[in-house]
Amino acid sequence: MGYKDKIDLTRLPEHVAIIMDGNGRWAKGKGKLRVFGHHNGVLSVRDVVEGAGEIGVKYLTLYTFSSENWNRPSFEVTAIMELLISTINKEIKKLMENNVRLNAIGDLDMLPGKCNKELKGAIERTSGNTGLVLTLALSYSSRREMVQATRNIALKVKAGELDPADITEELFAQNLYTHNMPDPELLIRTSGEHRISNYLLWQIAYAELYFTNKLWPDFRRDDLFEAIYDYQHRERRFGMTSEQVN
Ligand code: IPE
Ligand code: IPE
Ligand code: MG
Repeated sequence: MGYKDKIDLTRLPEHVAIIMDGNGRWAKGKGKLRVFGHHNGVLSVRDVVEGAGEIGVKYLTLYTFSSENWNRPSFEVTAIMELLISTINKEIKKLMENNVRLNAIGDLDMLPGKCNKELKGAIERTSGNTGLVLTLALSYSSRREMVQATRNIALKVKAGELDPADITEELFAQNLYTHNMPDPELLIRTSGEHRISNYLLWQIAYAELYFTNKLWPDFRRDDLFEAIYDYQHRERRFGMTSEQVN
């Protein structure tokens, strides 16, 4: 029996975020180039997106390319950008079929023109879909996102539109890329690394963290279901005592 049947569908996390890691090591383990791992990682994305939609997760946010990833060898960066273009192109039909709304967060202007155009076209085409909201974090840095938010707020204060006393957690959150989605309740990272790598630092303040040794190209929907099952067996206390939350 898979994990799907064990999940309590009435207590799903609304928002699941994933750090898709381990493509390079997966390929290396097979004696192939790192790029081979990225290509196979796309199959995991497809399966996990379908799995998330199938059980009714509302938001899925995938760490696809970090601001720091621009520092990789140019051969790899170019290959990833090309893969992104061809994948969006190929998957758009499936996204429409599955009622998925595509979204992207990050410094999108840093992406090559063709990539940005393809992405914006797909976001536009899927904008009427009402199912899963699939967000790709691209050229994303959480610290940069927060600095940008601070700058936006500072400009409003300077213009006399905002009183510093009115700067609240809610207002700050409204100035982040993620203003139109709830915070993730569950963050998954594959490949056995136990770090956050500049991902959604503000938003995961109270997320449950789930680490698996599986490398991303080996991750499938049942692994997502297993992570959700694990999440459902945790006690989320938010600073209170066990007695209070039960
Ligand atoms: C994740 O896999 C994909 C991206 C960061 C783009 P990696 O490419 O980081 O694979 P490893 O961690 O080197 O194995
Ligand atoms: C994080 O993975 C970024 C993505 C998954 C897109 P990395 O492989 O870049 O993270 P570090 O460098 O090992 O922390
Ligand atoms: Mg990595």
